[in-house]
Amino acid sequence: MVIPTLTEGAVTLRPVRLRDARPLERALLDNRAWLQKWEATSPYGPTGLDTRASIRSLLGNARAGRGLPFLIEYEGELAGQLNVSSIVYGSLSSASIGYWVTEHVAGHNVTPTAVALATDHCFYQLGLHRMEICIRPENTPSLRVVEKLGFRYEGLRRRFIHINGAWRDHFSFALVSEELAQGVLRRWQSGQASQDAARVTSEDRAASAFPLPVVREH
Ligand SMILES: CC(C)(COP(=O)(O)OP(=O)(O)OC[C@H]1O[C@@H](n2cnc3c(N)ncnc32)[C@H](O)[C@@H]1OP(=O)(O)O)[C@@H](O)C(=O)NCCC(=O)NCCS
Repeated sequence: MVIPTLTEGAVTLRPVRLRDARPLERALLDNRAWLQKWEATSPYGPTGLDTRASIRSLLGNARAGRGLPFLIEYEGELAGQLNVSSIVYGSLSSASIGYWVTEHVAGHNVTPTAVALATDHCFYQLGLHRMEICIRPENTPSLRVVEKLGFRYEGLRRRFIHINGAWRDHFSFALVSEELAQGVLRRWQSGQASQDAARVTSEDRAASAFPLPVVREH
């Protein structure tokens, strides 16, 4: 699958390459404290940081048609990553999005712009039907990203993704292509994204404050 380069203003999404390993590793190490709380981890135990191996695995997924691994650039500099993963076609035709940016570019709308570019590409170039983003209840900045873009709240997923050493609850947000007349980017830029769509129900917010009772920890 071709991984495109997509640009809007100062934000560019471009394919990640093996030669990005060193600068990416530098950015990950420099932003350790900023990222660690939100980092996906292995349920089988701690693994070292191997950026080349993780890029190889992302590129393998892309070759198999299951992912689009992007590097995010802001004003021409490496600013983070956005991965479209779990791409499936046919009756499901959906995918998930994950992202991070470096602390020093935070708050400049880099991520909403990147998510809008990637989502529009998936809808209008790949023909996907549904895009999903899952976020930990504690991640207020990330919840703001889906709120800005008008992603629709779908529900609480208990102990859903292994993050920072444990299974963590997530709120799930999605868009289907029929919800959009003009694409996510244009809808947001024209001020027409509903700021209410991403509102989490009070029941789910309250439930997420209490851990799911587990009979066996692993
Ligand atoms: C979540 C994240 C990707 C948002 O990216 P971003 O490009 O900063 O997104 P935005 O510019 O839209 O900012 C979103 C909100 O973050 C908050 N924010 C802004 N600057 C911030 C800073 N320096 N520190 C913490 N939060 C900040 C603001 O509330 C902002 O909302 P606002 O624009 O209405 O003020 C980024 O904070 C990040 O990489 N965090 C660590 C990794 C992570 O959480 N990944 C997502 C897992 S689901």
